[in-house]
Amino acid sequence: MKYHIIVFGCQMNIADAERVSAVLESMKYTQTANINEADLVAVVMCSVRKSAVDRVFGIVEKFKEIKKKNHGLKTILTGCVIKKDKKIFLNLFDYVIDIKDIKNISKLLGNCGSSRKSGPQTDNYLDITPKHSSKFSATVPIMTGCNNFCSYCVVPYAREREISRSSSKIISEIKNLVKNNYREIWLLGQNVNSYKDGKTSFPALLKIINNIPGNFWIRFTSSHPKDFNSDVIEAMAKCEKITPYLNLPIQSGDNKILELMNRHYTVQEYKNKIKELRKKIPDICLSTDIIVGFPGETKKQFNNTVQLFKDTKYDMAYINKYSPRFGTAAAKLKDDVTWDEKKRREKVLNETLKQTALENNKKYIGKIVEVLIDSKKDGRLFGKTKEYKTIEINNDKYQIGEIIKAKITEALAWSLRGKIIK
Ligand code: 5AD
Ligand code: SF4
Repeated sequence: MKYHIIVFGCQMNIADAERVSAVLESMKYTQTANINEADLVAVVMCSVRKSAVDRVFGIVEKFKEIKKKNHGLKTILTGCVIKKDKKIFLNLFDYVIDIKDIKNISKLLGNCGSSRKSGPQTDNYLDITPKHSSKFSATVPIMTGCNNFCSYCVVPYAREREISRSSSKIISEIKNLVKNNYREIWLLGQNVNSYKDGKTSFPALLKIINNIPGNFWIRFTSSHPKDFNSDVIEAMAKCEKITPYLNLPIQSGDNKILELMNRHYTVQEYKNKIKELRKKIPDICLSTDIIVGFPGETKKQFNNTVQLFKDTKYDMAYINKYSPRFGTAAAKLKDDVTWDEKKRREKVLNETLKQTALENNKKYIGKIVEVLIDSKKDGRLFGKTKEYKTIEINNDKYQIGEIIKAKITEALAWSLRGKIIK
């Protein structure tokens, strides 16, 4: 029996998909990259933007075609699904399963795999040992869910309230990954800063992980600025394995919009945190998430975001056009910024970002950086620096998954070029 898996959305969804794969493989399914030869297709969906949901409807159309030839094809939907969409998708998929219940897939399918053994038995689905999709970079979810209810966001409805994983399970998982030569560990959660297991807070967890012997990098995402505090900054500064990179989503550079978004911080408070961070970790690289065209966002308010970009000099930003989501507080507001204007704002911000990113990258010329190689093509190596910058190196003697040293020879806005240091 073969399964094909399709994933949409963020790293958390990819981590979820690795658990879905593990459950299916414990039922003796094997993975296929070819949807046409699959007996089972699992879709891990994202609901954050309407476009992501529309892509699932696109796939359903494809299923209809395949089912004409392959009548036995079974389809499963899981991931971030909101109640309203669940009702619709129940008619379009054979099964719609809450991500927390994926260990029950075998029961649900009537154990139609060749094995009678049921899936891994654990309470928190995050404790299912995943089938990692990479041999050198692993995601380790430390918490899931969200209590914040930002007014535009569907995540608290799709993933429900925050739950943290047990720190001992996280630590033994990471020890095992390090033993297996994983070089990059991504700690994941909707808001990693609110991680809590008894007395173990997020900064405490970082310190414990940093003390695990081995040559590996620690990265984490995502952080809510209201919970990102001096203790985390101190842990980042002290722990040599934590990479000098942070994604700190501000969403808007205007205080009124931040209030309407229910974000619980001001632009000044955010900037103060960045200032403290840069003081303690001068070589830190920064990225952020932005929503342009939030209901009622005026040109002046948008320009405050442009100004923030100029002041903060980000290395990267994930710029999203506002998309109303059913059930959220913002969906009740009039979505009055036209799609064309949203596109224009996105473009303006991208141009601003391009300038600061290029300026920042130029500072690396002549410097030596550490690189984790993630691919090879046409005699060249590609990878990410510790600062999470994409780099291209004219050499292919090294292997994917190796950490090497390179000297930067050229800087572009979205990437660096370098040569190997002997
Ligand atoms: N519309 C547009 N972007 C959104 N995001 C979350 N909800 C929405 C929405 N309704 C963006 C935010 C968040 C990222 C994961 O997706 O910027 O940080
Ligand atoms: Fe959504 Fe806000 Fe929670 Fe992030 S913190 S998942 S944006 S509600």
